[in-house]
Amino acid sequence: MDLIKSIAELEQYVAALKAENKKIGFVPTMGALHEGHLQLVRRAVAENEVAIVSVFVNPTQFNDKNDLAKYPRTLEADSALLESVGCTAVFAPSAEEFYTEEEMNTTFQFDFAGLDEVMEGKFRPGHFNGVVQVVSKLFHLVQPTRAYFGEKDFQQLAIIRHMVRSMQFDVEIIGCPIVREESGLARSSRNTLLTEEQRALAANIHAVLKESTSFYSMTTVHELHDATIAAINRHEGLEVEYYDIVNGDTLQSIEKWEDADYVVGCITVYCGSVRLIDNIRFK
Ligand code: PAJ
Repeated sequence: MDLIKSIAELEQYVAALKAENKKIGFVPTMGALHEGHLQLVRRAVAENEVAIVSVFVNPTQFNDKNDLAKYPRTLEADSALLESVGCTAVFAPSAEEFYTEEEMNTTFQFDFAGLDEVMEGKFRPGHFNGVVQVVSKLFHLVQPTRAYFGEKDFQQLAIIRHMVRSMQFDVEIIGCPIVREESGLARSSRNTLLTEEQRALAANIHAVLKESTSFYSMTTVHELHDATIAAINRHEGLEVEYYDIVNGDTLQSIEKWEDADYVVGCITVYCGSVRLIDNIRFK
């Protein structure tokens, strides 16, 4: 597996692949890799001639500097995992290498057509500007045939699909299902920040959401919404930041179950100081 540290090296590497007409599968990540990421990489390896993974903790998508400082960085272990699943190359630049000073200091502007005004966009102002900034730059550099994203970050996936359409990238976006721990907790790099006790507590998030799918049609959207928040907050140490039951295409909240054919509940919960996100599909 090749380790690429600079933009110049990456440009040369991709130019050589393009000269041979190779199909490139691409998985952007922030590292601290786990089975959720590896699932994406395995698919990229299986479906393309070459698989490139980026490992870059993107400073411009963190609205909380403390969160950025705390974010786990484990490049050595990540490289070993990537090698074990057949990844061709890993691109792991420093922030100074990746961004010019101007890019770091001016806010990237993108028209999200309202997709960023809800949920994560509302609670993490500027977050998706940073995500689109980094992913669009990576797409220009890597020129992938296909790029793989997890449904765990449901709103991010919708925004990336919108970005590809509006910026006319010639790339197929592939969404992959959420990978969970045995307890049901969605795998996340942030789970390493939880104590054993908190990890067990956090499993209640998925347990409550999953149970609600078995009886949702017997209640109203509002009742289910409020009952879900109450059932999670009842566990001391868990605190729901938001729970939105939305049309899975537009991300707008629904009032009645009949309002959409594709309905997803998206949640963010603080477990102590660790912010966890998850979602569940109703229909
Ligand atoms: P990161 O949180 O490292 O996630 C990288 C990719 O892995 C994302 O597409 C995410 O949805 C997916 N992923 C993470 N945990 C998953 C799980 N349990 N099941 C399925 N997929 C999972 O998302 C980012 O990084 C960044 O915002 C990035 C797109 C790299 C831009 O900086």
